[in-house]
Amino acid sequence: PAVSLIGVPTDIGAGHRGASMGPEALRVAQIDQRLARMGLDVRDRGNLHGPFNPWQPPHAGYRHLPEVAEWNRAVHEAVHAELREGRLPVMLGGDHCLAIGSISAAARHCRERGKKLRVLWLDAHADSNTSTITPSGNIHGMPVACLCGNGPAELTGIGGRTPAVAPEVFRQIGIRSVDEGEKRLVREAGLVIYDMRHIDEVGMRRTMEEALDGVDADTHLHVSFDVDFLDPSIAPGVGTTVRGGPTYRESQLCMEMIADTGRLASLDIVELNPAFDKRNQTAKLAVDLVESLFGKSTLIR
Ligand code: ARG
Ligand code: MN
Ligand code: MN
Ligand code: MN
Repeated sequence: PAVSLIGVPTDIGAGHRGASMGPEALRVAQIDQRLARMGLDVRDRGNLHGPFNPWQPPHAGYRHLPEVAEWNRAVHEAVHAELREGRLPVMLGGDHCLAIGSISAAARHCRERGKKLRVLWLDAHADSNTSTITPSGNIHGMPVACLCGNGPAELTGIGGRTPAVAPEVFRQIGIRSVDEGEKRLVREAGLVIYDMRHIDEVGMRRTMEEALDGVDADTHLHVSFDVDFLDPSIAPGVGTTVRGGPTYRESQLCMEMIADTGRLASLDIVELNPAFDKRNQTAKLAVDLVESLFGKSTLIR
């Protein structure tokens, strides 16, 4: 497929500064050349632009709501334009609030083309908070709720339809940190969550078989890859580490099984924070995994 890299240099929704450096770290790790070497037509569209981080405390339960909305309107339009051209947009994030823009665009594209959407949410966190239950006010902890219509109109309305998606489109994988109020919300929404206990008990292979069940030729597969999904021992370069994540091998298998479906149609790489990294190792690891996600394998298959 034809791949378009879109830099989204923002930490507007995060609790630590630095995810705004994520796009450059991925470029330094040669994400474009590594994908091009696999025979993909790769274009780097450069960075989107948006407001600087004003670093304010929460206001009515949200930090930086107008700025988050402005960034996400830009993401939505950029992603939708790439999809309309038949290209596969890859967000170089940037904090996870950007998934509001990218996934609402994927959903809009699916409505226009009569496709089914499936979102694989690879993350340590459920990101299903709302303004009343959030412990932080950070909107990177709220994109799943917003996409399902549970959030402020400035965010739930991006893309012209509220809710942008139904909770049934999500499969959350690797989850190991859910806030107290958030637990009740994910239960009520009926989100399908493969938490770390599930992966421990049945293994990554069966977990991915379950998460990908029903994906077919009519499915648009969106992967929202929060780098804090990975165990912090291999991926320290994120602001919100949670111990007990997937190992290197488990993560590779996860990506390889997604690639095998042949349905990957849009991707977010988010929460990479070079300020917490060492020698860009987390960006390099993310790029290794993204190669697998695009079908790199050890042997000819
Ligand atoms: N649950 C916490 C919060 O709402 C952390 C969210 C972390 N999200 C992320 N995309 N890293 O603040
Ligand atoms: Mn479209
Ligand atoms: Mn996370
Ligand atoms: Mn996240």
